[in-house]
Amino acid sequence: MCGIVGYIGTREAQPILLNGLIKLEYRGYDSAGMATVTKGKVSVRKQQGKIAALSNLLKKKPLRGTIGISHSRWATHGIPSQCNAHPHTDCSEKIAVVHNGIIENYEDLKEGLIQEGHIFKSETDTEVIAHLIEKFYKDDIEAAVRTTLKLLKGSFALGVILGNHPEQLIAARLGSSLVIGLGEEENFIASDTSALLAHTKNILFLEDNEMAVLTKKSVAVSSFDGKAIEKKPTVITWDAAQAEKGGYAHFMLKEMYEQPSVIESIVHHRVSEEKSGVYFQEMKIPGKKLKCVEKIAIVACGTAYHAGLTGKYILETLTGIPVEVDVSSEFRYRKPILGKDTLVIVISQSGETADTLAGMREAKRRGATVLSIVNALGSTMTRESDGVIYTHAGPEIGVASTKAYTAQLSILYLFGIYLGALKNYLNIQRIKKLLTEMEGLPQQATQILANHKIIQKISKRHHDKNCFLYLGRNLNFPNALEGALKLKELSYVHAEGYAAGEMKHGPIALIDKTMPVVCIVPDSATHDKMVSNIQEIKARGGIVISIATEGDKHISNHSDYTVYIPKVRELFSPVLTVLPLQLLAYHIALRNKRDVDQPRNLAKSVTVE
Ligand code: G6P
Repeated sequence: MCGIVGYIGTREAQPILLNGLIKLEYRGYDSAGMATVTKGKVSVRKQQGKIAALSNLLKKKPLRGTIGISHSRWATHGIPSQCNAHPHTDCSEKIAVVHNGIIENYEDLKEGLIQEGHIFKSETDTEVIAHLIEKFYKDDIEAAVRTTLKLLKGSFALGVILGNHPEQLIAARLGSSLVIGLGEEENFIASDTSALLAHTKNILFLEDNEMAVLTKKSVAVSSFDGKAIEKKPTVITWDAAQAEKGGYAHFMLKEMYEQPSVIESIVHHRVSEEKSGVYFQEMKIPGKKLKCVEKIAIVACGTAYHAGLTGKYILETLTGIPVEVDVSSEFRYRKPILGKDTLVIVISQSGETADTLAGMREAKRRGATVLSIVNALGSTMTRESDGVIYTHAGPEIGVASTKAYTAQLSILYLFGIYLGALKNYLNIQRIKKLLTEMEGLPQQATQILANHKIIQKISKRHHDKNCFLYLGRNLNFPNALEGALKLKELSYVHAEGYAAGEMKHGPIALIDKTMPVVCIVPDSATHDKMVSNIQEIKARGGIVISIATEGDKHISNHSDYTVYIPKVRELFSPVLTVLPLQLLAYHIALRNKRDVDQPRNLAKSVTVE
């Protein structure tokens, strides 16, 4: 939540900060602001609304200067408004601060500062930081920030500038991500690397309890208590073009259509030529340790949680190891029973989701081995887990996750095969067969994505319905949840995902002739049970939209609309059946004139609890 970009160098800061903010807008988009220093003075511009609103303001009232900080906000304390937008300043308006996270003890701090005569302008927790720095500042900004940091409870990534010190930009991190980009005669800070790709690929990752003092020529990292820390830059392989729309109307559309190539590249890079084995070069957990795994616990949020739910079916089928799945916010508080033979798999696109990070730390504390399946290179989860498997899906900018999900599923298949082989649960013939079939998935995905006319037709007829029901069974039950999630987050249309067998235990009461029911019914062991469900829906006048396997006439006879997917083994069907569900949510959102890439109230990276 919230995006931060900071710059110090020889170029004008404003365009660099603005372009960086645009790349981070997916993290929060209710207001935005910027501050620079010129001639010893801090100047601030802020605006409620999206970055475009700030950009318009800056056209009228540009900011000059070669040092600056900027922020796009997702409100936690205080309504979205110009006044609550960052940067926040102290009483003298010489210190400007941008912050991502939550200062949990801000009320106590604020009360004390008010008693000492400080005057507050906003309702935010962040403003206390500016006033505390003001209170402690003598002539050394670094010392003032360090003293302030010791008083803050909660989570933060901070950028600070001061009018008296135009040669220094200060950054600090506890619990919220912050990276430093290294340039020539210029340095940067940002919430994540996507904001910096146009300028540098050499990145230093700040860890918790670390602060950094940036000048245009140097970056000095130290612990909060002042110990110098040596850091080596990581070179990021993503390029700037990957974070652009590339001719598509929306990032989400581009990302949906990238899925065949993402799956192809995952299979290509992880599977041996003769299809006899799977490789995870970067995963540091030794095979000996994995061989002893007796239980797997998957922990994730949102769409990644749905990948985890599907992962349960996948891993149990391929390894014979029992798997449990939790949403991270429940897992971390439920005192999970884990031991040294438990493998905890955390799944996350961003690698920064606060609850998943906390779940991961809890798992480690309880002695489990933690494997992370993550997309964002170098993110906190990848650095703190015992081993990592990257999904390598490239930057995902659309707030609604699409390609990260199918990439997560693809990795789960491959990891299942890898572990199944290690455990001698799968023999070589089966492995070869599975891996050969996986090679066909990208082509099948392309075929489904090309078939968008039927989805557009359904969207045209039913975009105005108040409620949708999504049903699936077994491996395709989690996709019922995912399809419903996509629709509600993009279109603001109420949607429920249900295990089809549970339909008679409640949702059937909702079915009438205004209710579209999306039935995920590919060839599978539960196909006939789904057919019965479909007949029950039709008997009550419901509108049936089926996702079925090519040639399944039986289904099309009973459905109002049938979207076909190619014939595929049930195990692999979720990676295909989800594609029409993503397209459906996208096209309904378009019809309803929603902001597809930035739905209201959501943020891509939920870095607060
Ligand atoms: C937010 C995003 C979702 C994402 C979820 C988990 O809700 O809008 O798209 O699935 O967070 O994020 P993660 O980065 O951990 O996958």
